[in-house]
Amino acid sequence: MLGNSTKTLGEFIIENQSSFKYSSGELSKLINAIRLAAKVVNHEVNKAGLVDILGSSGDVNIQGETQQKLDIHAHNKFIESLTNREIVCGIASEEEEDFISINSSDEKHQNSYVVLIDPLDGSSNIDVNVSVGTIFSIYRRVTPIGSPVTLEDFLQPGKNQVAAGYVIYGTSTMLVYTTGDGVNGFTLNPAIGTFYLSHPNMKFPKAGNIYSINEGNYNHFPQGVKDYIKYCQKEEEDRPYTSRYIGSLVSDFHRNMIKGGIYMYPKSSKASNGKLRLLYECNPMAFIAEQANGKASNGHTRILDIDPKELHERVPFFCGSVEMVDKVESFM
Ligand code: AHG
Ligand code: MN
Ligand code: MN
Repeated sequence: MLGNSTKTLGEFIIENQSSFKYSSGELSKLINAIRLAAKVVNHEVNKAGLVDILGSSGDVNIQGETQQKLDIHAHNKFIESLTNREIVCGIASEEEEDFISINSSDEKHQNSYVVLIDPLDGSSNIDVNVSVGTIFSIYRRVTPIGSPVTLEDFLQPGKNQVAAGYVIYGTSTMLVYTTGDGVNGFTLNPAIGTFYLSHPNMKFPKAGNIYSINEGNYNHFPQGVKDYIKYCQKEEEDRPYTSRYIGSLVSDFHRNMIKGGIYMYPKSSKASNGKLRLLYECNPMAFIAEQANGKASNGHTRILDIDPKELHERVPFFCGSVEMVDKVESFM
């Protein structure tokens, strides 16, 4: 695919910025900053097996999970890249308890966008050389330009997102994103450090035959989820489905979008809201899914309609091919 594509991400951003209804120059700069940080993190992820950046840092992040060294590194790189360019007014990261308010050099808080990121998703996979990713989500602030950002600017329902995307550091590195006008995927040519449009207008197949869930938690799942898993495993014309679970949302989502499938992280008797974070993981993936003809739900409600109450809140997540998400909802 890469061989036939000559359009670079840089060219694509410029060509498409006029179709974007709000301050498009600013958004383009923002995507460019993410593109740059993605390349830096990609470089670090690729050499992780070689240097002492590998492994646990010994610190624990705000959710009480062990932070891997690369989580912190990725967090720092994205914050640095976005802060230095003075293109956002605030950033919230899965790796930090509070949001960061960014003053422009003239202290006038002139920028209109906030960014939320999961700097390294699937980080438990780093030590074993399996794909990881970065997820980002962009909103326009709701408080007036010229004042410092507040929590309100970050606690917006996912349907307010103006852009969202992910980077997957896999067999090749890709950046996939949407600005609300479809989903496009770009593959990095590592020899020259350029992303090329390799997957234009990505769409989830309507139906699929892959289900992705941590089945080790089966006994703790709600009855509806147990029933749906049994449905997936039943001998019928197009079943049993195939089970695939990498343990990295970005990678599982990416495969399911290309091949047709569903990703599930339900609540359980051990975790009343599941594990995934609404703002850093579920909302951006839900926005991408809907833009690609897929669907994302908490089992009952559209993810993008949920009003967030706190920065690090978690939510059950069912996301993928529309017929599969409809089906699991019917079991709930
Ligand atoms: P993170 O590495 O950002 O903490 O996210 C990991 C998430 C998600 O990517 C993955 O699908 C899920 O956690 C795996 O959780 P389990 O190990 O509980 O299945
Ligand atoms: Mn994550
Ligand atoms: Mn993470």
